Amino acid sequence: MNEKGREFKGLWGGKHYRRWAALFGMGPEFYRRGLGDLELGDGMRALDLGCGPGALSLALAQRAAPGAAIVGLDLSEDQLAYARTQAGGHACALEFRRGSMDELPYPDGHFDLVMTSMALHETPPAVRRAAVAETARVLRPGGLFLLVDWSRPRLGLWGVLWFPLVCRGEKNRDNWNNVYPALCAARSLDLAQDGYINSMVRRQLFRKS
Ligand SMILES: C[S@@+](CC[C@H](N)C(=O)[O-])C[C@H]1O[C@@H](n2cnc3c(N)ncnc32)[C@H](O)[C@@H]1O
Repeated sequence: MNEKGREFKGLWGGKHYRRWAALFGMGPEFYRRGLGDLELGDGMRALDLGCGPGALSLALAQRAAPGAAIVGLDLSEDQLAYARTQAGGHACALEFRRGSMDELPYPDGHFDLVMTSMALHETPPAVRRAAVAETARVLRPGGLFLLVDWSRPRLGLWGVLWFPLVCRGEKNRDNWNNVYPALCAARSLDLAQDGYINSMVRRQLFRKS
């Protein structure tokens, strides 16, 4: 991991990453469930933090109006290059650009929706916190923040196995302890929906007040 986060490249990037992800249950249905009933209307803008090969952005693009725009942001050129190969044929504008989620190159209130899947835990704690602050800044009042990432497993057996294997380090403590509602509340992002999309991956939706 560099100071901004783990950059997925080589055998962990692009089409290889998509294969790994599918193996771990993160296929198209996973992203549809992650989005829930979110859509993007005409003239609306969405940003996907740590977009990887773009699965969440692409799922949203399938339900976006022609005048909508989606931007995926990632540290990894390998991930972005693959995402760009998938970007054609959608009604809305779809762009994939390089950047870090803690320094968003957009003005205040620019987006209607900021979303992120399976990416916050790949960044150092300070970067995650800055990403939440930046998300709050670039969202318009009433805008939504969709956070999909692993959390404390719902099923006891998974918890027993998962904790010693994965959760001891600083990297995973925020997810295990579900700190995001408090971090978001401090930035005027209020928890509106909270649930799991499988035994370990949590879906939280926040609204900017
Ligand atoms: C586990 S992958 C998830 C990718 C994608 N969101 C998905 O659900 O398929 C995490 C992604 O976060 C990216 N990443 C890590 N730190 C980042 C940062 N500070 N800013 C932007 N992207 C970052 C990695 O390069 C990687 O593509």
